[in-house]
Amino acid sequence: MSETKKLYIRTYGCQMNVYDSERMAEALGGSGYTEVSSPEEADMILLNTCHIREKAAEKVYSELGRLRSLKNEKPELKIGVAGCVAQAEGAEIMARQPLVDLVVGPQSYHRLPDMEARTRRGEKVLETEFPEDDKFETLKTRGPKARRAPAAFLTVQEGCDKFCAFCVVPYTRGAEVSRPADRILAEARDLVSRGVREITLLGQNVNAYHGSGPDGRDWGLARLVRSLAEIDDLKRIRFTTSHPNDMEDDLIAAHGDCDKLMPYLHLPVQSGSNRILKRMNRSHDRDSYLRLIERIRAARPDIAMSGDFIVGFPEETDADFQATLDLVREVNYATAFTFKYSTRPGTPAAERSGQVPPEVAAERLGALQALLAEQQQAFMQGMVGREVGVLFEKAGRHPGQMVGKSDYLHAVHVHGPALKEGDLRRVRITSAGPNSLAGELV
Ligand code: 5AD
Ligand code: SF4
Repeated sequence: MSETKKLYIRTYGCQMNVYDSERMAEALGGSGYTEVSSPEEADMILLNTCHIREKAAEKVYSELGRLRSLKNEKPELKIGVAGCVAQAEGAEIMARQPLVDLVVGPQSYHRLPDMEARTRRGEKVLETEFPEDDKFETLKTRGPKARRAPAAFLTVQEGCDKFCAFCVVPYTRGAEVSRPADRILAEARDLVSRGVREITLLGQNVNAYHGSGPDGRDWGLARLVRSLAEIDDLKRIRFTTSHPNDMEDDLIAAHGDCDKLMPYLHLPVQSGSNRILKRMNRSHDRDSYLRLIERIRAARPDIAMSGDFIVGFPEETDADFQATLDLVREVNYATAFTFKYSTRPGTPAAERSGQVPPEVAAERLGALQALLAEQQQAFMQGMVGREVGVLFEKAGRHPGQMVGKSDYLHAVHVHGPALKEGDLRRVRITSAGPNSLAGELV
């Protein structure tokens, strides 16, 4: 019998990192590790990092600094850096911070068990290659099949070929690669057998998914979604993040005719100004985005739209920013994510002149957030009196209360002592708070 060791993973950044952290924990489960929730207990600590915006590496260094006392107390503690900062700056981190035993890029997680064994022999190990072998296949679960929470992530596609001028993803996650459909279907069936009722398909460009199907043909995301929808006990399907240019007709149609595909779509536009979109190398313009949304809404009128916006991109003028506000008014978002442009070394925009002063960017961010918050509030208020599906995920703070997610991803509180985790029920919304809804079972 192998000894049990304790693993603590801290996850930063996007949902794909959340998924990756789960898979890393599973992979190390085979080496005798169980996950714990505090770094103090751990025999191994992994920081699963994000590189998308500024100060990412600094954050990792300061986090590592805080771990120094733990390592002093327990010299056999192993510390690893994973994720996109590891990919971009791993070698430097290892050279600068002797505390670090292991650096693993996002494409090499399946090598963790072997890397861990080498650190136990006193080696320092770095893996940031883009290996040919399929990490997902090698990452298969060993050990007992644990029951899972009702909602899970499943990565179907990784990497990005779009090269937006501001973005590090094409460099840290590499080129677009799609997993074969049969492996995704098998993973989904396994998740469902362990209690999962909702799956969010993940990809940096998830709607660019083109994997080989079990029939030997090329499957797009719509074909994959329809096939997943045939799994009986899988009740809900979502996908994120999409690029406007990859929103193919059959995927739009699926939003209209596939009941399990939830009426929520995260479709980043970044800016409402054609001039800025061009400089961002977004390869779509304002009108094509707006027309696309019209078509999506024609297929699914109640769809909730979400987006990402960057303010203060180099050379963004007040008029450009007004065009963004204007687009936001035209689309009317249910929710959105807003960012101040952050210079990323190695990206084309980093070389550009015309940087926007930080106080101007801050002001624009405030104005954009205020408008989006208004729309979000209006959307939530508009839910009151409506009926919506809710997938219950956990007990609420009050006795007999359960909390779940609506079709539109709102947290919904319901009094229902008989409700169980994983129940999907119709709920009438009775009130809307700033961040969540309350309702009663229909
Ligand atoms: N600065 C600010 N925001 C960025 N994003 C990506 N790169 C940058 C950057 N350099 C935002 C985009 C993207 C989201 C995941 O992060 O809006 O859609
Ligand atoms: Fe980054 Fe653009 Fe690719 Fe999205 S589409 S990951 S913003 S390069």
